[in-house]
Amino acid sequence: MARIQIAGGRPLQGTVEISGAKNAVLPILMASLLTDQPCGLSGVPHLKDVTTTMELLGQMGVEISLGDRFRVEMQARELASDTAPYELVKTMRASILVLGPLLARQGVAKVSLPGGCAIGARPVDLHLKGLKAMGADIQVDAGYIVARAERLKGARVVLDTATVTGTENIMMAATLADGTTVIENAAQEPEVVDLAECLITMGAEISGHGTNTITITGRERLAGYDYRVLPDRIEAGTFLVAAAMTGGCVRVTRARPDTLDAVLGKLEEAGAEITVGEDWIELDMGGRRPKAVNVTTAPYPGFPTDMQAQFTALNAIAEGTGVVRETVFENRFMHVQELQRLGADMRLEGNAVIIRGMEKLTGAPLMATDLRASACLVLAGLVAEGETVVDRVYHIDRGYENIEEKLRQLGADIRRMTG
Ligand code: EPZ
Repeated sequence: MARIQIAGGRPLQGTVEISGAKNAVLPILMASLLTDQPCGLSGVPHLKDVTTTMELLGQMGVEISLGDRFRVEMQARELASDTAPYELVKTMRASILVLGPLLARQGVAKVSLPGGCAIGARPVDLHLKGLKAMGADIQVDAGYIVARAERLKGARVVLDTATVTGTENIMMAATLADGTTVIENAAQEPEVVDLAECLITMGAEISGHGTNTITITGRERLAGYDYRVLPDRIEAGTFLVAAAMTGGCVRVTRARPDTLDAVLGKLEEAGAEITVGEDWIELDMGGRRPKAVNVTTAPYPGFPTDMQAQFTALNAIAEGTGVVRETVFENRFMHVQELQRLGADMRLEGNAVIIRGMEKLTGAPLMATDLRASACLVLAGLVAEGETVVDRVYHIDRGYENIEEKLRQLGADIRRMTG
């Protein structure tokens, strides 16, 4: 099992290029199921979840070839299967995103129920509610969702919570439905917008993406796409927090500052100097220790839950006391007890963690539990005195491309240990 070893205490300095957004790449790859025409996606990061998605689509009969380093070519000429098997879905919940496209393309889809995960129950009831509203017959049988529909019909769908993948599933299904679908309380995340923009290049008729009401008028068929995915705002935010925690100065390039307003605002509150350009963001901490900040996660454009663990780590070494409140998932604080092993002074109270910043943390062996928690443990290791070893880094490889190489480029004393 691979581990990451860090010797803390070095301020990060320099420039790092941001990879394509995992949470946009996954639905856009699934969108290739909506057409029998060739599709090409550029800016694809080398991540475990991307490999899993290509394996899943390949099993369904999608022809897939890899272009240059970051390009994937696909064509779903003939689909060989209508099933997303448990073996794959249990390793990647986002597999649920084949449900809408498969159902719209061929009138039947069988997808294993994703089951719970470390950060919460994460039901998919709203995905199913939306597809049912569009006329699908949905059964759950032996752990599989079995969905059927001659042809989906446009409908008005009101989402109880602004589910990201729920919005994406319903939006993709609606592009081939008969009539117009309106999604109310839709997710507004930039990754939802990027998927909509890609669908529009395929000929889909979509408006309102990026707001809480998305309108889609179905088509008989869609063309293929040749698209470049947007940069990963969570990867960019993670490196900026690393710079703030270590008192360094880092520029993230090939980034989208406009997708990080809430995060940049909190970093300025913590005392960072931020400058931005068209496609870059620079954070200069000038050797200062960050000031504690209060954070409450919320759907976009609120503060992203995927940056919560990173700010918990920042508050662990900040000046003062900070409160981090998690409102999106019910169990996204597994990193707290790991940070306490480094000497962090933090205590859980309901859906919040109260953090009294420490002058220093002391390195120790740690265990990663989920994607963003593992990133936060690496960030804590960058500032802890002595050696920190983070185990089970397969979690981190799901969402960060070569994180230790990128951090080493910025001056961190970090390496991957295998075996
Ligand atoms: C997406 O997950 C992201 N994953 C997550 O990123 C991200 O944390 C999350 O959105 C929130 O921003 C991908 O895009 C692949 P939700 P998703 O449905 O769509 C409840 C990462 O680290 N809910 O928006 O699964 C749910 O329980 C991952 O990259 C229902 O109740 O999240 C949660 O409390 C982690 N019923 C809330 O909504 C449903 O049918 C938000 O979940 C669906 C969701």
